[in-house]
Amino acid sequence: MNKLQTIIGGGSLQGIVEVPGDKSISHRALILGSIAEGETTISGFLHSEDPLSTASCLRKLGVQISEIIKDETFQVIGLGLEGFKEPRDILNCGNSGTTMRLMMGILAGQKGKTFVLSGDKSLSERPMGRVSKPLRMMGGKLFGRENGNKAPITVSGENLKGCVIGTPIASAQVKSAILLAGLTASGSTSVIEPASSRDHTERMLKAFGANIEIRGELGRNVVVKPGKDLNGQEILIPGDISSASFWMIAASIIPNSKITIKNVGLNPTRIGILEVMDSMGCNYKIDKESIIAGEIIGDIHVQTASNLKPFVIEGDILPKLIDEIPILSVAACFCGGISYIKDAAELRIKETDRLKVMARQLSKFGAIIQEKDDGLVINGDSKFVGADVDSETDHRVAMSLAVAALLAKGSSNINRANASNVSYPGFWDDLNSLL
Ligand code: S3P
Repeated sequence: MNKLQTIIGGGSLQGIVEVPGDKSISHRALILGSIAEGETTISGFLHSEDPLSTASCLRKLGVQISEIIKDETFQVIGLGLEGFKEPRDILNCGNSGTTMRLMMGILAGQKGKTFVLSGDKSLSERPMGRVSKPLRMMGGKLFGRENGNKAPITVSGENLKGCVIGTPIASAQVKSAILLAGLTASGSTSVIEPASSRDHTERMLKAFGANIEIRGELGRNVVVKPGKDLNGQEILIPGDISSASFWMIAASIIPNSKITIKNVGLNPTRIGILEVMDSMGCNYKIDKESIIAGEIIGDIHVQTASNLKPFVIEGDILPKLIDEIPILSVAACFCGGISYIKDAAELRIKETDRLKVMARQLSKFGAIIQEKDDGLVINGDSKFVGADVDSETDHRVAMSLAVAALLAKGSSNINRANASNVSYPGFWDDLNSLL
């Protein structure tokens, strides 16, 4: 399906939205529920392509997951830490890097069983060596094209041994794969990151009763020890701040806009975008903050601000807003002066090369944007005119281009707009409800 969306620029956005559940937490709820003892109930799950890929893989491994119906609570009956059965089929991870990398972690220690993980065209070109390499240090046997770097990946379950692993990149997927493998390894497993990445796995492992410790400067060292069973939990998943970010930026820039986004996850490792919005001079406030299942949530109210200032994104903040770079690159086009996005080479290995794709697509609206090896230099004060653009199959690009099109004069067509289903299936309906 290649869906075209036409957007007429010039309107304003008003109203209240509740964005769908957090994608990262949805994957983890399913995975930890599957390796726990007893029943886990999950509410607020993101009913979209990526987490459903994780559910489909886990079902093939013998996990009982009740029917997942949008907006309804469902149950996972855990098989314990080593209870997966060897599947008859390939485990298809679709477009989801989180599914493939976290599955590699939990499967590596399933002694005596063999698993094959595959994915779509985009996922088959994304690097998996960043996970197979540390898992091999633990004794894991993982194979794939380019010496275990590209899918299809075969995991031949082994007895793993814990070790100390310094990861060269701050990636929650890499860290989580190692920690999940550590649950069945002999001895303790210690991961040290160069900067802190999102910590949903650590929070949830703690809630499930794992023996996990956060150490070191800014929590960059996480240690997991085996020997403790996980116990099924009740999990309530907050709204995804990465999905909320499209409305946060749209409301900040589109004249006469005012949007409330309810029940958004505000985990400190995910809110880098708020720091950037502060430096831009955005007009927002957060209220109704509470802690649910170890995660902070709150309502975000945003309204249009004038004279937005350019910004610089670099260094340790990157992992805290890694998925928001596409929409922040749209924002930069409307901040007076020049904005810089640096240290962002990781963007090149996401669902698409997001630096290249955003530069290419935003230029079609008239953006003045320069691609660098590790970032973008973006000229503010842009005057966008309607254009024919393309998501290039990337969900976050599709939704960022929708906001860009709202800021353009005239009408725009967004090709392959349905890519948004990967993380935000109701995006276009929510947009219509705000117009
Ligand atoms: C994710 C981690 C991030 C992020 C991705 C989801 C996760 O990727 O970009 O959308 O759920 O762990 P990296 O770990 O590769 O940085």
